Amino acid sequence: MNPTPLASEIYRPAPLAGPVLLRALTLGLRLLPPELAHHLALAALALAGRVHLGRLLLPRLLPPPPPMPLQLGDLMFINRVGLAAGYDKNAVALEGLALLGFGHIEVGTITPQPQPGNQKPRVFRRLRQGALINRMGFPSLGAAVVARRLQRYRLGHPLGTPPLLAVNIGKNKQTPLAEAASDYALAATQLAPYADLLVINVSSPNTPELRALQTPEHLARILQATRVAARTAAGRDLPVWVKLAPDLDGDDLSIIVKQLCADGLVLTNTTVARPTELDRGDQAGGLSGWPLAQRALAVQSQVINQGCNLPVIASGGVVGPVQAVERLRGGASLVQLWTGLVLRGPALIGLVGRALADVEGQHD
Ligand SMILES: Cc1cc2nc3c(=O)[nH]c(=O)nc-3n(C[C@H](O)[C@H](O)[C@H](O)COP(=O)(O)O)c2cc1C
Repeated sequence: MNPTPLASEIYRPAPLAGPVLLRALTLGLRLLPPELAHHLALAALALAGRVHLGRLLLPRLLPPPPPMPLQLGDLMFINRVGLAAGYDKNAVALEGLALLGFGHIEVGTITPQPQPGNQKPRVFRRLRQGALINRMGFPSLGAAVVARRLQRYRLGHPLGTPPLLAVNIGKNKQTPLAEAASDYALAATQLAPYADLLVINVSSPNTPELRALQTPEHLARILQATRVAARTAAGRDLPVWVKLAPDLDGDDLSIIVKQLCADGLVLTNTTVARPTELDRGDQAGGLSGWPLAQRALAVQSQVINQGCNLPVIASGGVVGPVQAVERLRGGASLVQLWTGLVLRGPALIGLVGRALADVEGQHD
């Protein structure tokens, strides 16, 4: 069974949202190379989180989503809108990101040892298609450095307080697949004490062979090793979610999901496929944003229709309220944003949160 084709409709750019100042800043950032723009955005958020004026102004400029609580196991999410992994890989701007009103933030991917990632340039905007292409390859300061940052962050934000912190872990590039489980366990040992939950990333297309770990056998070993390491290090059982690729063959996906003993699924990561309007000879890497929406939704529907009762966290192509509502109506518990934040600016968080709350209100 082949994966669903990518969206064939043309992306109709939605206007930037939010106050003029933030719209101007978002437009200004587009004049810079994508990775530099991203680092500046993170630096601005880190600063806003540190200074009194920032802490006062940000929530006023960007009203957070209304409360829309959801209990998943022991975790209480205050709303359904989260930040997807890869935005703050090294936990540099958590204080500022927390001010934006997310119900959860997925930090990482963090590898056990530091590594530089792929050569730059490695992020490319495709704004006319509503997309990004990235081949970052897990640049990471390593689990020990990030753990120290999380420890500091936790002084003001205890475990269990909003936004919940999901910590996404991966393997180092040099680690052979046969030893992958010990990489996840090493990262879990360092990071679990500060995490509300862990996410196993076996779906990034930019670490050679990583996606080959998406088999029941590999995943069983990785989950077992991660759970044991996390329990030993943190002294409690943490929920462990698994993030899957949108490019899995349908039959393989069905077998994986049937046998998976995870606590949740993040569906999906970026795709290596390309829609027709993007040149197939375009940059290598994972494609995110609008063209991915239809396929990510199809993966979610397949998983839910096969009777899987794990909570689904919708990632992939949620570039506006329409896709967010579609994913929740389709059975997802939460949605995550990444490319949409580049396309629409940070006001998207509130827009999506309000749309989801409105839909819920209609059912009351
Ligand atoms: C520049 C960039 C870096 C990313 N890095 C990671 C990562 O380190 N780990 C991960 O699990 N996903 C990573 N992702 C994937 C996102 O978390 C998300 O799953 C994907 O972009 C699809 O969502 P979107 O269409 O809303 O962007 C990255 C995405 C982008 C655009």
